[in-house]
Amino acid sequence: MAKDFSTMEDSNRSSNPSIHEISSPARRTLLKGGLGTALGGLLAPLAATLPGCAATGGTGPLLGFKSVPLSTADRLAVPEGYIAEVIAAWGEPVGLSGESPAFKEDGSNTAAEQEAQMGMHHDGIHFFAQDGSKSGLLVMNHEYVDDGLLHRDGLKTWSAEKVRKAQAAHGVSVIEVADKGGKWEVVRPSPWARRITSRTPMEFSGPAAGHALLRTAADATGRRPLGTLNNCASGITPWGTYLTCEENFIFYFNGPEQPNAHERRWGLRKNGAGYRWHEHDERFDAVKHPNEPNRFGWIVEVDPFNPSSTPIKRTALGRAAHEGATVAVTRDGHAVVYSGEDARFEYIYKFVSRDKIKPGGGRANADLLDHGTLYVAKFDAGGAGRWIALTHGQGPLTAANGFADQGEVLVKTRQASDLLGATKMDRPEWIAVDKQGWVYCTLTNNSERGAANRPGTDAPNPRADNSMGHIIRWKDAGDFDATSFQWNHFVLAGDPANARAEARGNVKGDAFGCPDGLWVDGRGVLWIQTDMSTSAMGKGDLAKLGNNAMLAADVHTGETRRFLVGPSGCEVTGVTGTPDGRTLFVNIQHPGESPSEKSDPDQPRRYSNWPDFRPAGRPRSATVVVRKADGGVIGT
Ligand code: FEO
Ligand code: CA
Ligand code: CA
Ligand code: CA
Repeated sequence: MAKDFSTMEDSNRSSNPSIHEISSPARRTLLKGGLGTALGGLLAPLAATLPGCAATGGTGPLLGFKSVPLSTADRLAVPEGYIAEVIAAWGEPVGLSGESPAFKEDGSNTAAEQEAQMGMHHDGIHFFAQDGSKSGLLVMNHEYVDDGLLHRDGLKTWSAEKVRKAQAAHGVSVIEVADKGGKWEVVRPSPWARRITSRTPMEFSGPAAGHALLRTAADATGRRPLGTLNNCASGITPWGTYLTCEENFIFYFNGPEQPNAHERRWGLRKNGAGYRWHEHDERFDAVKHPNEPNRFGWIVEVDPFNPSSTPIKRTALGRAAHEGATVAVTRDGHAVVYSGEDARFEYIYKFVSRDKIKPGGGRANADLLDHGTLYVAKFDAGGAGRWIALTHGQGPLTAANGFADQGEVLVKTRQASDLLGATKMDRPEWIAVDKQGWVYCTLTNNSERGAANRPGTDAPNPRADNSMGHIIRWKDAGDFDATSFQWNHFVLAGDPANARAEARGNVKGDAFGCPDGLWVDGRGVLWIQTDMSTSAMGKGDLAKLGNNAMLAADVHTGETRRFLVGPSGCEVTGVTGTPDGRTLFVNIQHPGESPSEKSDPDQPRRYSNWPDFRPAGRPRSATVVVRKADGGVIGT
């Protein structure tokens, strides 16, 4: 077992500013005269866009609200004295000029209409401020779809039009939002409004761009992929762009009866395409187009301030079932991107840029994420750890072992990490960096830890049949680009009332299970969002934990306090805020998800009717705006 976090000395406390801290007015003052001047100057234009960067909340305790009780009700609950309002639900028009198709609650909007509307299953999100904390852009992911709710008759029939609508409900939305006299609204039309879908033309950049493994019949250059999908957690860069991650891409592809070793390692199999796109879009039939799956699993950079820009898949950051891309900045101005791969026994990665961040926003840093070193984490027993470079020609990453060049190392990041002996984790989800330079990663759960013929427990993943998950954290030695680190467990999640010792955890405060979303706000509060799966919710170890929730944690004391409980069948995932700390935007994904994962359009409200509660309506993913009734800073 690792040490308790509270007894571990913060040896380099304050030495590693987070992206938020380094961009804040206070930080720029602190750093004045040294590198801070340079960084402060280059980051100044972005400072206003970073969440909670302004001095917010004064000196009171981090957690100043009354805990929200556990609940199984089909409603969203926030603490006493707080207000929650829904905006930007699935199907609402995003505000494209001249295209504002109204949402039809019977699911009868066409594919073309869906291309101008909010997608389904909101996930990672960020608020890019434009006018202080009064207006800005909300950029968010739409992870996947529930075809039972998306189409009027669900899956009773299947057609090219339905596939196109499903593809249009995936991807990313950019919407303009404004505080209109105390109520946040979507601005329509807006010159910034944009939909990026699974059909949007994109580019590859970095070492694998143009690689033979990325070439297809439709794209002989290997540089022009089409679309993004299963966009889960997200991140932002100091130069004002959005990073969206392609997570469980393999389930969109039909595989061969006998997959090769590469395909097997990534889980490709015959009849594995649960979304059935390949039946009407042969790009997703990997039997016909075996390299098409290699064109997914990347981190995609989107410039929301340039609506006509082409999204870029940054191959230098590696290919994985990526969950999030969290950027930290070293004291001398290099960008470091942390990313988890959410699958059982997969890995945690970081990329360190070769070059320093330049002044001038997105255009000046257009290739910053194309050059650098990708590392995978090895957590040793005893609280030490190492970052091992995924560099062709080093160690076992040679042609003799199947890696012809760096491009192949990046396309086959999993296989390279296997060879390097990296630590197989309990499903790494989101990553966040606190003001002391600790980097937190949620390990959501792992029902196969310790099972027959599967990896056993180890120091970083200490519980067999890990139903509750945990949050690990590390501090890189000296600065974010170091190749060694110290780690410990911030918390083993759990339910103190659970009869099973392994499921009790060591929470100090409110019980929770399956941590997933993670964010550090401007005051330093660590926000934790839960994703107990619908099939497991309310049963076994999770029996008494109610609906998925969001908690606030005090990183100094370890206390967790429940702030929000979502409606029935939802996951709470994605949170961001305004610079003044007075508005939070929280995404509610798949309310009413049925245990079968495909809802029945004849009984769309069987599990939830949130947020419209209309007799003929369907449950909808949406963004929730949370404020304090007295206009105060959230959490105080
Ligand atoms: Fe899409 Fe791992 O959550
Ligand atoms: Ca999700
Ligand atoms: Ca997640
Ligand atoms: Ca999850």
